[in-house]
Amino acid sequence: MARHIDILSDPEGGIREATAILSQGLPVALPTETVYGLAADATNPKAIARIYETKGRPQFNPLICHMSDLAMAERHAVFDPISRKLAEAFWPGPLTLVLPLKAGSTIHPLATAGLDSVGIRVPKGFAGDLIRAFGRPLAAPSANTSGKISATSADHVEADLGDRIELILDAGSCAVGVESTIVKIEDGEVRLLRPGGLSAEDIERVAGQPLQRKAGATPAIEAPGMLASHYAPGAAVRLDAHNVSSGEALIRFGAPEIEGEKNATIVLDLSASGDLSEAAANLFDFMKRADASGASTIAFSAIPDEGLGEAINDRLRRAAAPRE
Ligand code: TXA
Ligand code: MG
Repeated sequence: MARHIDILSDPEGGIREATAILSQGLPVALPTETVYGLAADATNPKAIARIYETKGRPQFNPLICHMSDLAMAERHAVFDPISRKLAEAFWPGPLTLVLPLKAGSTIHPLATAGLDSVGIRVPKGFAGDLIRAFGRPLAAPSANTSGKISATSADHVEADLGDRIELILDAGSCAVGVESTIVKIEDGEVRLLRPGGLSAEDIERVAGQPLQRKAGATPAIEAPGMLASHYAPGAAVRLDAHNVSSGEALIRFGAPEIEGEKNATIVLDLSASGDLSEAAANLFDFMKRADASGASTIAFSAIPDEGLGEAINDRLRRAAAPRE
């Protein structure tokens, strides 16, 4: 069972305890106006990896990054005029805007699934206060095991994730009860990526134009499986390596027996202790470092296809797939 704090009667205690846990790189369950979120520091790869691990998500989908206000959002994303208008009208509230990631943003690529865009929303009430106190954006998918319906009460969260998380901030039932509406501005048009807690009519009224519902230029959301190229480094990728040739980089997991390590341009341990959560947190960074070592090929030792290993192997298979 997780610890519960009733934030309706003790909001200061909730903020104090939650910021302490978030600072350790661990997730907390928190109420938003839409659904309960499983929230963690969006700038900390280990913290984000914990979210995926806790939810049992087989894939690194892009996560919505929650901000305290428009000013914080503007430090991480580039706003076009329509997005700004929507933000000013509906934030805080159940609207997520997919925007170009701003140069210098500290949001980690694990939260955006390596995309050059970021889904941002400013939640109402306590969640916004917590983010303001924490001072950094929180990545937060719904607080439920992958494949189950979203939690809209602290009891739902406890029943599903109570034995896997430390703290549940309890504000009773969520006012909206469905996830936020997600839109993206493309070529001056407003594309609806996910219907949700803010109606299309409300958005159309402020945007002054009808929403586009057809699939657009970025199939990322509708089909996260098509993101292969985002995970492909410059070097070729070779999986299940038992040896390394000169000119190859080596990325290991656990303590495997690998022949010819001294030939490698660089040797990196995703997790020497065999912790898949740590490995997931290191993955993209290490692929970039291996690439930067000048290797023609990155050789990966085998990674177990369980827990977060499934997501890691999914990315590695994409990276190793024939390129165009
Ligand atoms: O109401 C909500 O939005 C809840 C509460 C907790 O705030 N959060 C939520 O977050 O549903 P999450 O992380 O499960 O939503 C992820 C979805 C992705 O599957 C995708 O549809 C969209 O948000 N998304 C996030 N970033 C994106 C991006 N850069 N490009 C396109 N879609 C993105
Ligand atoms: Mg969900």
